[in-house]
Amino acid sequence: MVEKRFGVSLKDYNTFGIDVRCDCLCGFSSIDDLRELHAGGLFGSRWGVISGGSNILFTGDYRGTLLHPRGDRITETSREGDRVRLHVEAGVVWNDFVDYCVAHGLWGAENLAYIPGYVGASPVQNIGAYGAEAADIIESVETFSTDTGTRLVMAREHCAFSYRTSVFKTVLRGKVVITAVDFVLSATPSPKLGYGDLRDRVVSLGGPSLGAIRDAVTAIRKAKLPEPAELGNAGSFFKNPVVEDAVASELKKEYPDMPLYPSGQAGYSKLAAGWLIDRCGWKGRRLGPTAVHDRQALVLVNLGGASGRDILDLAAAVSRDVEERFGVALESEVNIL
Ligand code: EPU
Repeated sequence: MVEKRFGVSLKDYNTFGIDVRCDCLCGFSSIDDLRELHAGGLFGSRWGVISGGSNILFTGDYRGTLLHPRGDRITETSREGDRVRLHVEAGVVWNDFVDYCVAHGLWGAENLAYIPGYVGASPVQNIGAYGAEAADIIESVETFSTDTGTRLVMAREHCAFSYRTSVFKTVLRGKVVITAVDFVLSATPSPKLGYGDLRDRVVSLGGPSLGAIRDAVTAIRKAKLPEPAELGNAGSFFKNPVVEDAVASELKKEYPDMPLYPSGQAGYSKLAAGWLIDRCGWKGRRLGPTAVHDRQALVLVNLGGASGRDILDLAAAVSRDVEERFGVALESEVNIL
């Protein structure tokens, strides 16, 4: 059922806690709801989607309609050998989906525990952490095409998934609404413990069970990342920059302790934006009502009462220093509206 509310404050709908309003907040639960909105001409005016609001920065009131997914069902659709398929509606909280998988003995989502946001947003920037990413377990993405007004299912090979991006962030941006994601999980244990101190933590929790991995990842995230309810933030504000190998090796010569990762793209390496920002002395530094988080320099925080512009000012100051010192441009991971 479509539910419209007008002149709504978005303070509780974005994890930065920015107090702006939108003209209309419109809850939907199904493709039929979106058909109804399409017939009513909604997609001819300004619209967007807001789910968990955990990767969005509002720089002013939103003059238009924000769609909010409400469908929250998880359905097992098939089981072949050890492969289990789940159809998960866009309004399911991501961490509830991870908990469902852990409770049902399904492997593949556990390293992505405690990432904020909803399932519908997970393919957009191909959320990732601790050596795993959503694309590893996504089989297809169910969408509603706002051009044709019909259901459109995108198979994973057409989603152009790569580091923190997908077709939903590029060519299909503003052209589809994600209504559900189909995942394929494995009933056979396949622990991924290669990242940082994950293995040690899992061992101390009794070995690589699904629950121990989920709990270890949750504990690491809680230790490094601020709780939005306490300190407004959107997780990593910047992407880790991907640079040409030649640039990376020049920097490595100058800064031997600089972390360097494979980018998955021949001829390019990935740098750690958090390290670059930290090295510029920004970790824990304040600027007006905003700051760079004191335990993870990739995270920008609202100390209370900040506007979106205040956060953008901080981001610009940080980027300027990183560019001056390392010659590397930072790109925002967060959607700026
Ligand atoms: N580092 C510093 N100082 C800092 C932060 C990091 O020196 O303040 C160094 C670390 O010591 C490490 C390197 O930078 O050598 C990388 O840091 P970390 O392992 O903490 O991971 P990250 O690259 O900062 C990425 C994701 C996170 C994800 C973690 C864990 C991006 C943009 N961020 O952070 O994702 O949780 O890896 O897998 O890729 C998010 O997207 O919101 C998010 C939190």
